[in-house]
Amino acid sequence: MEVKTNKISIPQKGLSTEEILSELKAMKKNDVPWDSGKVLAYVYEPKKETENLTKEAYKMYLIENGLDPTAFPSLLRLENDLIGMAKDLLGGDDEVVGNFTSGGTESIILAVKTARDYFRANRPEIQVPELIIGETAHAAFHKAGHYLGVKVVMVPVDKDTLKVDPKLVEAAITENTILIVGSAPSYAHGVIDPIEELAAMAKSRNILCHVDACVGGFYLPFARKAGYDVPPFDFSVDGVTSMSADFHKYGYAAKGASCILQKNRDLRRHQIFACSSWSGYTVINPTVLSSKTGGPLAGAWATLNHIGQEGYIDIVKGCQEATKLCREGIAAIPELEVMGDPDINLVAIVSTDPKINVFAISDWMAKRGWHIQVQLAANCSKEALHLSINRANVAHIPELLKEFKSAIAALKEKQAPEMALDPAMLAPMFDNMNAETFDNLAEMLGLGGGEEGAGLPDNLEMINNILNQLPVQQRNVLLTEFMNKLFSAI
Ligand SMILES: Cc1ncc(COP(=O)(O)O)c(C=O)c1O
Repeated sequence: MEVKTNKISIPQKGLSTEEILSELKAMKKNDVPWDSGKVLAYVYEPKKETENLTKEAYKMYLIENGLDPTAFPSLLRLENDLIGMAKDLLGGDDEVVGNFTSGGTESIILAVKTARDYFRANRPEIQVPELIIGETAHAAFHKAGHYLGVKVVMVPVDKDTLKVDPKLVEAAITENTILIVGSAPSYAHGVIDPIEELAAMAKSRNILCHVDACVGGFYLPFARKAGYDVPPFDFSVDGVTSMSADFHKYGYAAKGASCILQKNRDLRRHQIFACSSWSGYTVINPTVLSSKTGGPLAGAWATLNHIGQEGYIDIVKGCQEATKLCREGIAAIPELEVMGDPDINLVAIVSTDPKINVFAISDWMAKRGWHIQVQLAANCSKEALHLSINRANVAHIPELLKEFKSAIAALKEKQAPEMALDPAMLAPMFDNMNAETFDNLAEMLGLGGGEEGAGLPDNLEMINNILNQLPVQQRNVLLTEFMNKLFSAI
């Protein structure tokens, strides 16, 4: 695998503004064209006027430091306003408190840390705390467990509805269970878990219950206001003790904007870290970051105030209608099928024809300017194409469906590529994975090259096929080494 390796230093003499800006512009040329309407992941794009306002507000607060809200009271005001808006939307009563975080992952890490430390204080006999998630819960819960020493107990979801099965959760509860998680909805399939049942079960056992509304938190309430049927999923449900919701997804704010909401201050106490035992300034952090820009906060505040509830309702209506159109179109293509029955605009599409490989579809579409995220097979879920049908994609759905049909027609004609390697043959390499083994493996897999030797693979279909067939543990090893290599351009 080739990675650009020319040594780089800060230039002796600084470059001009023009030189720098034109180089930055040039660097972007291989990035996904997120403003084309053909990118169905990663970016949540508001209207141009909102985008410009968000950037302006972000820039106004770029240099301010959220480390100390007493030094920058305007940041405190912005955060309290945003948390107030989130809790108003998510059924929070006067007791609910929260904090602004850098993203869904940070919010989830804080939910798990809070649960861990609450139980450390109240049930110190628990040695290895456990949290229960469905297998469709976001990877951030695995990350939180990994970072915080909390055991992640993953239960299967119903294979037809793809929702967490409360009976399996109940069976997984032990004396060490501290937290039960439900998604509203799951990212991969867009389905809402049975939050009422999970929360009731948690409450009856004195266990905490987190609702991950990172992706749904600023969508579902507006879908309900627009007249769509949305099951109870928020603080209005008895037993829900914390929620995560991302402004930077369907709040259409700029990245770096999410929130963690806690049922009350007694619980939130366990989220906060204070340290006055060193010789510098006093550290009191309610979230993971310490020094932090005020940009995302001001950007999110501007975005929410600018779009307004009516604006969000209109956006959600458009996305819901476009999703319906898309699902009807997919139902008319015999080689494709939508998994489950998504509650919102997140759709996973699988192939029903063994000759049509979803990774090949994604590659074919990418050559025509579409960016469609792929999902590897995991547990109940077959390998799939993921569509987040956002505001900017709404007008492009008929074109997207046409392209799917063309892709299938073209791929039927095409010989499937030879599998470069038998995954079973790779197994021994994983027992001894190090930088050299990975380099050899990467060479064999044909990783690398890519545009300008950026170190990115050209043939994603082949790589995805191999990853898809590897056991999860080996996939993780391979992906870790891939990143380890990618970020070593010195
Ligand atoms: C349901 C859900 N939870 C958590 C996350 C993680 O959010 P982030 O990427 O902002 O860390 C996502 C991201 O897509 C999500 O969809």
